[in-house]
Amino acid sequence: MKFDVVVIGAGAAGLMCAGVAGQRGLRVALLDHSATLAEKIRISGGGRCNFTNLHTKPENFLSANPHFCRSALSRYTPQDFLQLVGQHRIPFHEKHKGQLFCDESSQDIIDMLWAECERGQVQLRQRCTVDEIQKHDGDARQRFTVRTSLGEFNCANLVIATGGLSIPKIGATDFAFKLAQQFGLRVVETRPALVPLTFDPHTWAPFTAISGAALEVEVHTAVGKEKGQFREDLLFTHRGLSGPAILQISSYWQPGHDLSINLLPEMDAAELLLKLKRQSKQTVLNALMSECGALLPRSVATAWLDKVSPSLAESKIADVADKLLRAVGAALNDWRIRPQGSEGYRKAEVTRGGVDTRDIQQQSLEVRTVPGLYFIGEAVDVTGWLGGYNFQWAWASAVTAALAL
Ligand code: FDA
Repeated sequence: MKFDVVVIGAGAAGLMCAGVAGQRGLRVALLDHSATLAEKIRISGGGRCNFTNLHTKPENFLSANPHFCRSALSRYTPQDFLQLVGQHRIPFHEKHKGQLFCDESSQDIIDMLWAECERGQVQLRQRCTVDEIQKHDGDARQRFTVRTSLGEFNCANLVIATGGLSIPKIGATDFAFKLAQQFGLRVVETRPALVPLTFDPHTWAPFTAISGAALEVEVHTAVGKEKGQFREDLLFTHRGLSGPAILQISSYWQPGHDLSINLLPEMDAAELLLKLKRQSKQTVLNALMSECGALLPRSVATAWLDKVSPSLAESKIADVADKLLRAVGAALNDWRIRPQGSEGYRKAEVTRGGVDTRDIQQQSLEVRTVPGLYFIGEAVDVTGWLGGYNFQWAWASAVTAALAL
């Protein structure tokens, strides 16, 4: 079978790319090993797909080359995607910080992308396992042969949209990275990102009882030149920490490094404790709760105080030395903890790292050394923050490649 374009991976980026290419008049085949389309879109955003972010900027993405994403992001913007959503009359709403979600279901986005593929007469092949890809020199109309469980596909252009490694149980594979290596491309080391972090059981024992407690914090970490800082909700879990604050910072964190968590970002906790010492006859815990019970859940304050200074919570604040109160206050504003690891690809929303952007052209997503070969979406070393940025990268990189084919 001869095609102008074969797209491998019928997820967010692959569907978008196939639809746009098909509507440009190209003969497109879209192959996927799964039986269902775009499983990650379906489960995204709690079933409502946070499909873009109105405030998308290159600064919301991590990559060994932070400038790489600029070109695609400016070529296809959140407004462009919204226009498509509007044409398909999909109801949506803004949750917060520019995050747009479907009112009803993620399925609306999948149906929209598939309808666009149908308009472009894209030929979809599901349950299709790719066994081998061969490149031929010479005739530019037939540069690649894709050998699959459903036969051979010959094409001029080959687009790899097989995503990253997160959630293998719904079909994630290392296909893109293996293929990159086959063609001599570099791959930036991959690791789980937007993922809950875990602690060694001994460190975490005092906090297992407060699993489920949540509060707004400011969290930051620095690894080399990369610094992450977020003010979001944090959630205690049985094995460690989760919630938007931790998912965001996990993309920056690396083993062997600390997180700094400000449990009371609204105030100088040392000053507060010294003021309470002068005014209050209560225990440290009750005095603290009287001032900031709305910001710091009692269960968290109790477990945390017990961990940093056993029996302090129940001591009368008036009897506690200023030095200790200052130290405890400083630690409330700068709780240093070192995660042991993460929940891994099983729970990660995305993969950091991927096909090295030095080997891909920014204006087209085409591989510099292999004409006709393109990598788009999460397979590329571009990772967005939590909040709709990863889909915006999938759409933008897909359209950029589709217009260059
Ligand atoms: P994607 O993973 O979408 O698609 C890859 C496709 O390739 C799949 O269809 C897969 O079956 C196929 N494939 C893989 N290996 C193959 C092989 N060897 N042969 C053939 N086919 C193969 N982002 C966001 O912006 N907003 C959100 O709300 C969320 N929510 C969210 C929730 C959860 C639970 C997860 C896991 C992830 C998110 N994300 C997100 C991230 C977002 O889903 C992700 O970044 C995009 O789906 C990436 O799009 P791609 O098309 O690159 O890969």
